[in-house]
Amino acid sequence: MNRASVLLTRLIPDAGIAMLENAGLAVSLNPHARQLFPDELRRAVSRHDAVICQLADRIDETVLQAARSRCRVFANSAVGYDNIDIAAAARLGIAVTNTPDVLTEATADLAWAALLATARRLGEGERLVRAGAWRGWGMLDFLGVDVFGQTLGIVGAGRIGAAVVRRATGFNMRILYYDSGPRPGVEALGGRQASLDELVSSSDFISLHTPLLPATRNLIDARAFRRMKRTAVLINTARGPVVDHEALVHALRNGLIAGAGLDVYNDEPRVPRDLLALENVVLLPHIGSATATTRSRMAEIAAQNVIAVLRGERPPCPVTP
Ligand code: DGY
Repeated sequence: MNRASVLLTRLIPDAGIAMLENAGLAVSLNPHARQLFPDELRRAVSRHDAVICQLADRIDETVLQAARSRCRVFANSAVGYDNIDIAAAARLGIAVTNTPDVLTEATADLAWAALLATARRLGEGERLVRAGAWRGWGMLDFLGVDVFGQTLGIVGAGRIGAAVVRRATGFNMRILYYDSGPRPGVEALGGRQASLDELVSSSDFISLHTPLLPATRNLIDARAFRRMKRTAVLINTARGPVVDHEALVHALRNGLIAGAGLDVYNDEPRVPRDLLALENVVLLPHIGSATATTRSRMAEIAAQNVIAVLRGERPPCPVTP
């Protein structure tokens, strides 16, 4: 009898592959050292019972239609799933799953690293040293902004937002948060719910942790930047389109804010030239969850999701009903 098969659109850590194989599944890996093109992806998904996909894979209705006669689950190796047409998957009866929780602390660490790096201009400093252009200590050189004791605004105070708040308490920060409802866990740490207007105008640091939804696309727009402090720092480790790109570049170029730390972009892996040309922005390659342990745990959860669906059981982390 043929074994059920799982397509990996890109390589995942060994721990996930071992789980799939130990469950008796045949694992096939995209043979290219790149993402599959849309037509290759459609062909590949039609030949498997399950797919472990990644953020860069656009799982739109055409891919889901190609998959529907055989494939029962798309297991996204991420907490976010804005790369998947969830409504179409639900309509076609294909399960979609994600990998929440295991990446919370690693992603919060990265947001915190980006916050410190941007506040203290680490990217600029490193570029100067590497270029052999550092001419010695100067009292007025590389003046950044203080972090300790300042106000942090968290946009989206879910799991990762709350984990960033935990880090901020060690820096004696005042916490504001913007979310659709109260977050008792964040309030227990001293956080206060605020309107977006109050948050952007009162915060020294604004860190984004909301999923990309129609309501959060361009949430941080030109109006929000105009209300920010000129010393404010914006951190985005959520999704690129949560910030209006043109408005961000205008704000960075014209000193409406002091700087930005970005791990995510509108059209990854393309990073717009106008950002590359700016010194006051720290640019990272979407590495929020990139620790060896976290990525292994994500692979294991994705594998558990696949195994459960193929056994006709409820997966640990379903996104579709
Ligand atoms: C996610 O999980 O959504 C991150 O962006 C990648 O780890």
